[in-house]
Amino acid sequence: MRILILGGGGREHALAWKLAQSPGVEILAAPGNPGIAAIGRCLSPQAAEELKPDLTVVGPEAPLVDGVVDRYRTRGLKIVGPARDAARLEGSKVFAKNFFLQSNIPTAGFVTVDSAHDARRALARFGYPVVLKADGLAAGKGVIIAHDAAEAETALQSLRGRLVIEEYLEGEEVSFIALSDGKDVLPLAPTQDHKAVFDGDQGPNTGGMGAYCDLAILTEAQTAEILDRVIRPTVERTGFTGFLYAGLMLTADGIKVLEFNVRLGDPETQPLMHRMSSDLVPVLMAAATGELGSAKIDWRPGPSVCVVLASGGYPGDFATGKTITGIAEAEATGATVFQAGTRMGPNGLETSGGRVLGVTASAETLPGAIQAAYTAAGRIHFHGMHYRKDIGRKGLNRQS
Ligand code: AMP
Ligand code: GLY
Repeated sequence: MRILILGGGGREHALAWKLAQSPGVEILAAPGNPGIAAIGRCLSPQAAEELKPDLTVVGPEAPLVDGVVDRYRTRGLKIVGPARDAARLEGSKVFAKNFFLQSNIPTAGFVTVDSAHDARRALARFGYPVVLKADGLAAGKGVIIAHDAAEAETALQSLRGRLVIEEYLEGEEVSFIALSDGKDVLPLAPTQDHKAVFDGDQGPNTGGMGAYCDLAILTEAQTAEILDRVIRPTVERTGFTGFLYAGLMLTADGIKVLEFNVRLGDPETQPLMHRMSSDLVPVLMAAATGELGSAKIDWRPGPSVCVVLASGGYPGDFATGKTITGIAEAEATGATVFQAGTRMGPNGLETSGGRVLGVTASAETLPGAIQAAYTAAGRIHFHGMHYRKDIGRKGLNRQS
């Protein structure tokens, strides 16, 4: 069976790594990356358009918002992902917030504004801190938390066009991802991302500096509530197919949705794939053909942790072309190194992006998985490399 993965980051390498373990599967990826090239064939996006894969899985949001699923289905091809209409849940914050409101899905109070003038009037009603969000896709740069009027004014200079202004929520963030075939839903294990660049959630937001997967992140009652109040109503109202990712805040007033993504998370996918013990291929096939009803996913009992190794300066400006060493040594400890911002250079593997590698390990306990991931990360080197030292620490507090 030929499976095509669209995308070329750490999430897609983790998917490729997992799917390649299934018997009789050939992995194709567009554009892919050097990590994926070691287990499959990487193609240009144009070449991928000529293929007739048995199954296609879409990693990033941009092609989904652009309607890739509709195009593949028109060609009679099986694909995992939402149709363009449903992808607006990620493509437009205004659309998503109105959808939450109409569907009675708990979320932060908000207003939509179309000009800086209206924004200033709305800000006066909210107090500080307050959250400003650009309406469209912004590659993680469209959300600003303003702590006072001066910061809000600076935010208004950088966020153009239609905005959502919303109430600031306090609590712990959880990434809850479920797979749907348009009728039934199959939740994945809960994960927690680490968005800020520095330890202790300090500094600017990034695409995600690390994530871990631990069943203790949510109680069974919380999982049931998320499925009943957030995921199932969304699937019922939109016929959503693919991976629906609810970014949640566990507040003192209960669960609130911060945002929807219409795809797997990056880096959440790395610990999810590492921990999953069942074969993912039949599950994805069932999702693509409307037969998810009886599908099931098994997880290894112990948690998994992914530490992202980033380029010096990321999430600001950073240099590329730095030689990467130590991946084999890191993997010799039992960890798996998923590649994201990498390319082949004259001296071998080198950096090509902000988030370069996701060092991922599983163990019987969370402290064990954290230690295993950091031991492996310590064997890798490239000039300017930096990473958070506290991935998973919130989970340790929860256990004690
Ligand atoms: P979003 O892209 O909407 O998930 O926002 C990016 C990040 O900003 C989230 O992961 C949160 O850490 C933070 N954030 C977004 N909305 C809020 C909010 N209403 N209150 C507090 N933090 C928020
Ligand atoms: N890790 C956050 C995201 O994938 O959007």
